[in-house]
Amino acid sequence: MNRIYISLLFVFLISSILSAQNPLAIPPVLSGTAFELNLQNGSRTFFPGFTTSTMGVNGDLLGPTLVLNAGDVVTMNVHNNLGEETTIHWHGMHVSAVNDGGPHTVIEPGTTWSPQFEVLDKAGTYWYHPHLHEKTAEQVTNGITGFIIVKDPEEAALDLPRTYGVDDFPIVLQSRAFDADKQFIVETAADDIMMVNGTLNAYLEAPAQVVRLRLLNGSTNRTYNIGFENNLSFSQIGSDGGLLDASLYMSRLRLSPGERAEVLVNLGGMEGQSIQLMSYASELESGIYGAANPTAMPMGNINGYAFNPLNGSDFNILQINVGSATDNPVTSIPATLVSNTPYSVVDVQATRSLLFQPQQMGPTGMVNGPFVINGATFNMNVINLEVPLNNTEIWELTNMTAISHPFHIHDVQFYILDINGASPPANMRGRKDVVMVPPMGGTVRFITKFEDFADPDVPFMYHCHMLSHEDDGMMGQFLVIGNPTASRESQGTAPYGLEVYPNPVGVKTVQMNINLPEAGNLEVAIHDATGRMLSSLDFEEKSVGLHTFELKLPEELYTGIYLINARLNGQTIGTGKVVVK
Ligand code: C2O
Ligand code: CU
Ligand code: CU
Repeated sequence: MNRIYISLLFVFLISSILSAQNPLAIPPVLSGTAFELNLQNGSRTFFPGFTTSTMGVNGDLLGPTLVLNAGDVVTMNVHNNLGEETTIHWHGMHVSAVNDGGPHTVIEPGTTWSPQFEVLDKAGTYWYHPHLHEKTAEQVTNGITGFIIVKDPEEAALDLPRTYGVDDFPIVLQSRAFDADKQFIVETAADDIMMVNGTLNAYLEAPAQVVRLRLLNGSTNRTYNIGFENNLSFSQIGSDGGLLDASLYMSRLRLSPGERAEVLVNLGGMEGQSIQLMSYASELESGIYGAANPTAMPMGNINGYAFNPLNGSDFNILQINVGSATDNPVTSIPATLVSNTPYSVVDVQATRSLLFQPQQMGPTGMVNGPFVINGATFNMNVINLEVPLNNTEIWELTNMTAISHPFHIHDVQFYILDINGASPPANMRGRKDVVMVPPMGGTVRFITKFEDFADPDVPFMYHCHMLSHEDDGMMGQFLVIGNPTASRESQGTAPYGLEVYPNPVGVKTVQMNINLPEAGNLEVAIHDATGRMLSSLDFEEKSVGLHTFELKLPEELYTGIYLINARLNGQTIGTGKVVVK
């Protein structure tokens, strides 16, 4: 054999080793209004000769994609056949606390949990996963993860790819670690194997036209810096909670644990070619799990991190083999999409500050944790915050650790106001439920509104979505307090609640009508826009029905907006606003 032939053979061998071997698994779809979800144990052969124990939903690994229509009332029948406790949380969806599947809503082995709720969300990509106290990383790693696709008329009116598995693909990125027996290792920095939709070394056959990728970072800790080989650009059209106002042309997209992004990529004219979807992790800043250096301070590291070849390097996630176009393909990317209406700072009734700190100072604690929020580690029996129903609030997150944390809140979608004091990049201006908080004093402020669901007993969670941090206690819980019978339309002002007039006021005395659902002790407090209480009035043993009071505003009040909060027997029954001119 001549030399050229040998080297050609060598190139052929290398490229066949490097090229992806397994077709990307596309989870089956379930649609309608009643869903049967069987959580079960299973096994898979990822490596020849080895059987890996797994968990899945209606199968061995991962779960079906649930397609929901906005406005439908759906019932989820979640059967727990795992032989251990679990919960199922509908990440990103706006559901009541009892339906949310947080750590308080345990599904005992052998039982079925059947939440029923209205789909109040915007068209977008959501997901479901277990949320059992201290077991989330383990059960997610074992394989319980599924997509939720919400559809609505606004999205349906746009010329977007939406044929599932044909030009619209769910893509969940999960780095995994395997032990010597090829079993999953939970909580380790050795997560050196990329699993996409549960497939190792995956390729996807996609048509030569505009295709939609619904990217979900379902990894325990790892952040990706998504891009295509050769810097082929793509357009982001959606963030966590729905479509963006306009499609954004970009070549990199950072995706931290829990985050979703819908992107369009134009494969038109590329028939017969292959292109890699990659993570350009070499470009991630220090202080992010996945970067060359996970700490933003000179000392401190994560055990074994430096030996993981995925950290700080550029690696393939998914090979896309471009085939022929379908009939009636989408061939262009729409410029404008939907119009989001961010909450307005004028309506803010409270600002809350959350401080992330290591439990122990020093380079190890600053990077590895455990981490605490406002000085406290998660305790199932402690309610950390109470939020009045219908409050519009700013949450101010400050990260005093050496590693970035993807912060997630249940119940709501939020809009980011600023990151380290600067406006967020354009692709983070849509609806979000996860935001990465930069290290070493980094700050994020977001605005949101707590509508529809109050519950005096069952809390919602907020936490770091690095699952090992969450399981180690970087989580808190809040109750939404309000009149439990208030409907979505009433906005908490009727039939019970509070009415304030004249409003805006030039004088410093206002009239209030308060309608009491039951007799008891009434307390009326006035707060400034930052949530500081300025004064309060107590009324004992008021009867059921309508009462009119005069409230003298403190003399020193400046022009501005003040919040009035009425509580009956310790529970908020109404909130109102006074604008002092
Ligand atoms: Cu995706 Cu509280 O979780
Ligand atoms: Cu969630
Ligand atoms: Cu964290």
